[in-house]
Amino acid sequence: MRIDIITCVPDLLVSPFAHSIMQRAQDKGLATVHLHNLRDYAINKQAQIDDYMFGGGAGMVLMVEPIAKCIRGLQAERDYDEVIYLTPDGVPYTQAAANRLSLKQNLILLCGHYKGIDERARELFVTSEISIGDYVISGGELAAAVVADSVIRLIPGVLSDETSALTDSFQDQLLSPPVYTRPASFEGLEVPEILRSGDHKRIGQWREQQAIQRTRQRRPDLLGE
Ligand code: ADE
Repeated sequence: MRIDIITCVPDLLVSPFAHSIMQRAQDKGLATVHLHNLRDYAINKQAQIDDYMFGGGAGMVLMVEPIAKCIRGLQAERDYDEVIYLTPDGVPYTQAAANRLSLKQNLILLCGHYKGIDERARELFVTSEISIGDYVISGGELAAAVVADSVIRLIPGVLSDETSALTDSFQDQLLSPPVYTRPASFEGLEVPEILRSGDHKRIGQWREQQAIQRTRQRRPDLLGE
């Protein structure tokens, strides 16, 4: 999979892909992440990429021309499955959406900043719009990192068997059960006996029952309750 991220703050996106699972996915050749600085597509020598809002109002808007130039340049090189704009007024992001995107070959993630992007860029290029939650962050970059990470880790071969995504929270509409490691006893708190029993069938049943109980307590909406 190839992910192209268009941003006016590329530095914000270096670290999220330079460590741990994201770095390993790229080292294994299973994913590549390309950062594109919108300023490289500025409309003038002053490196302008944004301007005041028509109609008045506080805050700047990213201009359509730099976005068009950047996206058209990429689309001239290869076909893209999706051009995704990260925005708080997008469709709320879910594990199901991550699963769907993980099957794609080439994705463009477009990050807004300031007051967002000129509506015509959305009309012309954007195929889907994603919000990572009902709150506003300073730009689309951290949202793009969230989406790219959640998608890349689902590509077959990125996670080892032990860290398989199949046991993640949400993968079966359930939150994950509690987990423990050594020591078996800490300040009077004991690891549940069953987890030390070696009886894998009963351990599996216990985990499922804990997952259901935790989901019922914390996220009854996932159970349709
Ligand atoms: N940009 C600013 N806030 C955002 C959010 N909640 N989701 C996606 N992109 C955003």
